[in-house]
Amino acid sequence: MQRTKIKAALASESPAPDICIKGWVRTRRDAKDFSFLEINDGSCLAGIQVVADAAASGYELVHAMGTGAAVAVTGALIASPGKGQKWEIKATSLELIGPADPETYPLQKKRHSDEFLRQIAHLRPRTNKYGALFRIRSSLALAIHDFFAKRGFVSLHTPILTGSDCEGAGELFKVSATEADFFGKPAYLTVSGQLSAEPFALALGDVYTFGPTFRAEKSDTPRHAAEFWMVEPEMAFADLTDDMDLAEAFLKHLVDHVLNACQDDLDLFAKFVDTTIPANLETYLAKPFARLPYAEAISVLRASGKTFDYPVSFGLDLQTEHERFLAEQHVKGPVLVYDYPKDIKAFYMRQNDDGATVAAMDLLVPRVGELIGGSAREERLGVLEARITELSLPLEAYGWYLDTRRFGSAPHAGFGLGFERLLMMITGITNIRDVIAFPRAYNQLEF
Ligand code: 4AD
Ligand code: MG
Repeated sequence: MQRTKIKAALASESPAPDICIKGWVRTRRDAKDFSFLEINDGSCLAGIQVVADAAASGYELVHAMGTGAAVAVTGALIASPGKGQKWEIKATSLELIGPADPETYPLQKKRHSDEFLRQIAHLRPRTNKYGALFRIRSSLALAIHDFFAKRGFVSLHTPILTGSDCEGAGELFKVSATEADFFGKPAYLTVSGQLSAEPFALALGDVYTFGPTFRAEKSDTPRHAAEFWMVEPEMAFADLTDDMDLAEAFLKHLVDHVLNACQDDLDLFAKFVDTTIPANLETYLAKPFARLPYAEAISVLRASGKTFDYPVSFGLDLQTEHERFLAEQHVKGPVLVYDYPKDIKAFYMRQNDDGATVAAMDLLVPRVGELIGGSAREERLGVLEARITELSLPLEAYGWYLDTRRFGSAPHAGFGLGFERLLMMITGITNIRDVIAFPRAYNQLEF
């Protein structure tokens, strides 16, 4: 008999005489002549209640259908007399597919700490919280493609192996092969798809890439992962304002999507992780995002009267404590900070006429800090070459990149959004390791 997903069964309009569900037992309660089992199959947050008695075939094994066991249940979908659920299943047959020893199955208790669950990352998707999280993650990934598809952006798959350091920050993982000289030069895991996306923007107009990126940052913080996913749109004939407009429309779309498409799963986070989530998410939709030049942001921080670990002056690369102050205390919502000093930003960013700043922007959000980083790109060949030389970067390695400025160069702009930070922002989860299936971070490479 064909398996019905529990999500579909619970959404049924009418009773059904004969359905089959398969999933994992969350709880079982035994009365004298019958048992209640709650089964979850991951298709939605809710499980379905099964009532089984000795008349059901396979009932003799019900004692082995404890928490964590995989089972199949066939029976009638009937209106549930119990509270809180519309439907339940009156079993005609039970099948034990895979037992789980109650003595050793780690997920017996209702709630475990995030730290404990991180050590059993292979089992944590069986919990309500992580099931909900990974459904939200999946739904948002599709919403990202949807947003760009609707705007006519071309989806681009940029390479993961690379020879160049896009951000120039020296945070590359080196890749080695048994054959020492496989590429004839050093190879690394990419820190960003941007340098590959730019030539395609200057050919296809609007493109985006959404894929894994890698950073060997030795920062053991709750917001840094060694492997994370980045969404990077790149637009031809666009400037910094267009870039900020796109970032704002993009984030609003994703917040709106999650509020509408992931309600049940999101409710769990609002209930158990951070009760302020619904109100916070509304602030993203309520009004235009605040926009603040970097120099003004520095004045705000200096005038705040707060003592920061990193003292504030023009030229400072904003730290999380500053970013969070600006978003949480000053603006009380998302804020786009732009026109950063050129010395703290990457070589490719477009220089402003003041000679001191570049047309860069970061989107800072409450609780997370930097969610998006982007810029207008330096499209003027001479200015770009001079900057590469000034920074002592290897000019010859960027020959192909400079070609795009040599032939039909045009103003263009783009940004990168850290997908895991987006998930932290949306769910209220405070450690990036808890929004990644199998996190890779400083000192952590398990599973
Ligand atoms: O600000 P970043 O370094 O920008 C770039 O890489 C540009 N090339 C993007 C572009 O313009 N196409 O990174 C972009 C975003 C950050 O704002 C942050 O959300 C996320 O990527 N990010 C990280 N997320 C998790 N762990 C890390 N170690 C991260 N580093 C950056
Ligand atoms: Mg950045």
